Amino acid sequence: MNTTTISSTQAVPEVGEIPQHVAIIMDGNGRWAQARGYPRVWGHKRGVQMVREVVRACVDLKVRHLTLFAFSSENWRRPPTEVSFLMKLFMRSLRREIKALADNGIRLQVIGALEAFDKTIQDLIAQAHNTTIDGEVMTLTICANYGGRWDILNAMNQMLAARARNGVAVDAYVEEDELRPYLQLADLPEPDLFIRTGGEARISNFLLWQLAYTELYFTPVYWPEFDRAAFFEAVHSYQTRERRFGRTSAQLQPTK
Ligand code: IPE
Ligand code: IPE
Ligand code: MG
Repeated sequence: MNTTTISSTQAVPEVGEIPQHVAIIMDGNGRWAQARGYPRVWGHKRGVQMVREVVRACVDLKVRHLTLFAFSSENWRRPPTEVSFLMKLFMRSLRREIKALADNGIRLQVIGALEAFDKTIQDLIAQAHNTTIDGEVMTLTICANYGGRWDILNAMNQMLAARARNGVAVDAYVEEDELRPYLQLADLPEPDLFIRTGGEARISNFLLWQLAYTELYFTPVYWPEFDRAAFFEAVHSYQTRERRFGRTSAQLQPTK
């Protein structure tokens, strides 16, 4: 899928009533479960159902891209039993959902330092990618072993390797345009709306580069309770924002 990939710091992007790209930190699974006297992992299981619900809501609203933070580069610090549960849940969900995603025109991609995962997971990811590649309704991006700093460093390293191949001086000034193609999500417009569930007001090393001009929405609702209505509320909040991209309010009037 080829979308306009205007950088919000290089040019003012088009803004519509419906966010083209929504990025979500799905947080609060563990606390949701514990508050009900269940082990934390119950929250992760229930969280997968909410992914389905939010994907459907996005398709209905005609959101073109949905990006979900599923496992951060820092989440390896969790107890091994929880990490291994999350890996199994990830595999099971991929297996179960591939067909439905393809049938509904949803292109699935997984971004992050994927080489850290078992080969079985890497193969499943490749299979999911290939099976859904023609999807034109929506792009669903799952961030796994993803970190915003990794993304920027990885892009920088790839860019330098390309410079070496092409005989460009390593110390030549780096412009955004040269780096941008190597960043994850380079083929997608930058997120219009960021949502974090679970009550924390932080970015936790999510899309550091791509969120430069994204509208931020934080809600105390735990992810396992973030249903269609809660998602619509977030979109509604987005619709009340004035996206100035550095300009004054008065400058926006003619196009409003
Ligand atoms: C988010 O929920 C899911 C992952 C990080 C995998 P948490 O597991 O962080 O739940 P809380 O924040 O501890 O409640
Ligand atoms: C962020 O949630 C990562 C994901 C939702 C995958 P965390 O629960 O790991 O974030 P921190 O550690 O509380 O900042
Ligand atoms: Mg958390």
